[in-house]
Amino acid sequence: MKRLLTILGARPQIIKAAAISRVIRNRFNHEIEEVILHTGQHYDANMSSVFFRELNIPQPQYNLNVGSGSHAEQTGQMMMGIERVLQSNQFDGVLVYGDTNSTLAAALAASKLQVPIYHVEAGLRSFNPSMPEEINRIVCDRLSSLLFAPTQTAVTNLEREGLKGILTGDVMYDNALFFSPKADQKSDIIERLGLTPKQFVLATIHRPANTDNETNLRAIFNALQTIAQSGTQVVVPMHPRTKKATAHLVTTLSGLRIIEPVSFYEMIRLEKNASVVLTDSGGVQKEAFFYGTPTVILRPETEWVEIVEAGAGIIADADYNRIMTAYSALAGTKVHFPPLFGDGNAAQYIIEQIVNQ
Ligand code: UD1
Ligand code: UDP
Repeated sequence: MKRLLTILGARPQIIKAAAISRVIRNRFNHEIEEVILHTGQHYDANMSSVFFRELNIPQPQYNLNVGSGSHAEQTGQMMMGIERVLQSNQFDGVLVYGDTNSTLAAALAASKLQVPIYHVEAGLRSFNPSMPEEINRIVCDRLSSLLFAPTQTAVTNLEREGLKGILTGDVMYDNALFFSPKADQKSDIIERLGLTPKQFVLATIHRPANTDNETNLRAIFNALQTIAQSGTQVVVPMHPRTKKATAHLVTTLSGLRIIEPVSFYEMIRLEKNASVVLTDSGGVQKEAFFYGTPTVILRPETEWVEIVEAGAGIIADADYNRIMTAYSALAGTKVHFPPLFGDGNAAQYIIEQIVNQ
């Protein structure tokens, strides 16, 4: 029996962990004992506990309650807490997701104690060094023992750095297949908000390059307001970072349906039923693709280049004119979804590799 410490902290990592925990529980409970450590990076109920409950993820055995702070404060406190847990317990490996400060802290702490690191979502690159995530990914990949790459592009990126990725497919595609029918049964958000399917747009914004740059922030919200003024409802489940950043933009937000962050089931229904998604989120652009909804990417580049190559997404950065042109080009198109993100069994394949390691 292998003891695995899953380290997570931010919303998308909790959601990704649902796929892996489900497979361990259902198929590998004689081979793997999973213990979950939550760094506390995300802590509001609608950024964390809602997902454990809704997606049936085992409660974390450890919560470091680190909360918000500067990069160094947050990462440093996480490292100290993770080190204590790793030193006082025997683990055969740590499992980490994506590219947040929780991922970085876990990789640094585990590598110095020579605990093997298994990285889910390895090999993604934006080639934009101003993104904190790009630094986190490069360091984590360099330190990991098993690099689980969701796409062939990710495998190629790793090869360029002299690293060997294992092509697994994307655990978020596993989740889309598993949770989508449940979301249709359990969430009434479309009805509750009085939305008409395919006659509203969904927008999420949370990247520091957009929230912490007044010009970018205003350009994006001006574009959303123009769409709203044309009679299309614009639903914006707002990340807490963006809520703080837009507190002074009262007039620019008027006419938009700004709501609190929603649960995963609610998000799935919004993504499926929107005519277009506008987002700077990695996870949201991919889920929109899974559900056949086109995306305007509010960033200068994307790690998920397959979406753009398939014609399902257009990069518009935070440029008003580019956003409006991309939106007009995509509104009303139905995206063809080629199976670029695996076969829905990525989590099972990942756990098999860890068991056989
Ligand atoms: C983090 C990740 C980012 C990921 C995103 C997912 C890093 C460097 N960034 O960004 O890669 O895409 O999570 O959502 O790790 N806050 C709250 N309540 C919470 C959590 C955050 O109010 O529960 C507010 C705080 O003011 C905090 C700010 O949001 O300072 C940013 O939170 P933080 O976790 O530092 O970064 P994110 O922008 O969420
Ligand atoms: N998400 C959610 N509720 C929301 C916004 C996002 O459940 O209000 C989910 C979304 O479906 C996706 C994940 O959170 O699975 C993406 O997280 P986020 O955009 O915060 O981070 P990123 O993927 O950019 O790292």
